[in-house]
Amino acid sequence: MKVHKKVTSVSSLNGTITVPGDKSISHRAIMFGSISIGKTIVRNFLLGEDCLSTIDCFRKLGVEIIQKEDEIEIIGKGFNALKEPCQILDVGNSGTTARLILGLLSASNFYSCLVGDESIAKRPMKRVTEPLRKMGATIDGRENGKFTPITVRGGTLSGITYPSPVASAQVKSSILLAGIHSTGTTTVIEPNKSRDHTERMLKAFGGNLSIDGLKVTVAGNQNLIGTEIQVPGDISSAAFFLVAGAIVPNSSILLKDVGINPTRTGIIDVLINMGASISIFNERVKNSEPIADIRVETSSLNGIEISGELIPRLIDEIPIIALLATQAKGITTIKDAAELKVKETNRIDTVVKELSKMGAHIKATDDGMVIYGQESDLKGTVVNSHGDHRIGMMLAIAACISKGETHIENYEAISVSYPMFFEHLDHIRQ
Ligand code: S3P
Repeated sequence: MKVHKKVTSVSSLNGTITVPGDKSISHRAIMFGSISIGKTIVRNFLLGEDCLSTIDCFRKLGVEIIQKEDEIEIIGKGFNALKEPCQILDVGNSGTTARLILGLLSASNFYSCLVGDESIAKRPMKRVTEPLRKMGATIDGRENGKFTPITVRGGTLSGITYPSPVASAQVKSSILLAGIHSTGTTTVIEPNKSRDHTERMLKAFGGNLSIDGLKVTVAGNQNLIGTEIQVPGDISSAAFFLVAGAIVPNSSILLKDVGINPTRTGIIDVLINMGASISIFNERVKNSEPIADIRVETSSLNGIEISGELIPRLIDEIPIIALLATQAKGITTIKDAAELKVKETNRIDTVVKELSKMGAHIKATDDGMVIYGQESDLKGTVVNSHGDHRIGMMLAIAACISKGETHIENYEAISVSYPMFFEHLDHIRQ
């Protein structure tokens, strides 16, 4: 057997966890700090591999970034001080780094080249290279800019109005980051609302924008000012323990300081709609992002339909929701989620394949999956993350309720977003 992690079933999960900083917000804090004037301090930064790739890229662009554990200091000298990198920018496994940085590189006054790992090489980049070219960017890349490696010859861009065919915060953010360094105004119109951390952070750094429903507009040539950012706990990481608390017998888990931005709380809506025992309290706002503490207890659950505008609000939580649904009474149907096919893996395929190995009754559809809950008990076996951090964590929680031993191959991928995941699981397992 390859290098693997053994996880056995647990009798209950009890205790308190402070999940690591939000991945989306950590990326953006480095990017905004790097293009602002003055010092930015980022606290509770996620030290996952994805966000470290963002730091690495901005260092290669000449930005001074000082790291003291999870506190990051960025000495911002403004967008125009970014320098032509003499090395290739390597985004690792991070789609957010790739797509957002392309917006900035397109508006720069230099040449750059971007690569990533095997998974990044399969992920669609045309969704950003096409609108950026419409703004005037000179971009080349494999299959004419559809995939990495991608090269950019930066230059002067003009604002556009772009009706995005997908509800994607990465697409929206890439265009907005280019837009604030273009001439004229830039508007992005989404088919459904995606996470709005870029919009909130732009304001925190002194920028201007206007939001009208699904339409976001920024003025060009904006100068941003460094600030202090306290990164909230990542609800996408909390999601694994929210589900674990609901499905493991005799459990009660308290999750502290979790970001509850409404564009991210689809997982909470799903848990409530399935009948989970969950309470949210101590709500407060830090750096224009709402946070709270959340308690979840073992629950009896019912299957539901998950579709439409809810999907972008829980897109990263679908693997763990699929596991949740295996423990709910009746059928759960997930629709309108074809975007899952272009995540770190094809998450329709990897979720169905790996949960089926454990004995779940689950079927793939064109745009989601159908899960027949409580049809059989899950059984431990050899499973594989396929290099996808969220598949790895979902399988570890599945192992907690499975008979026998589960061996997770490629479990190391988990450090992309939650390096302390197994320590936290051990801390609450009985
Ligand atoms: C992210 C947006 C989402 C999400 C990803 C992080 C972001 O991707 O799946 O993990 O930080 O903007 P899309 O924008 O492609 O849906």
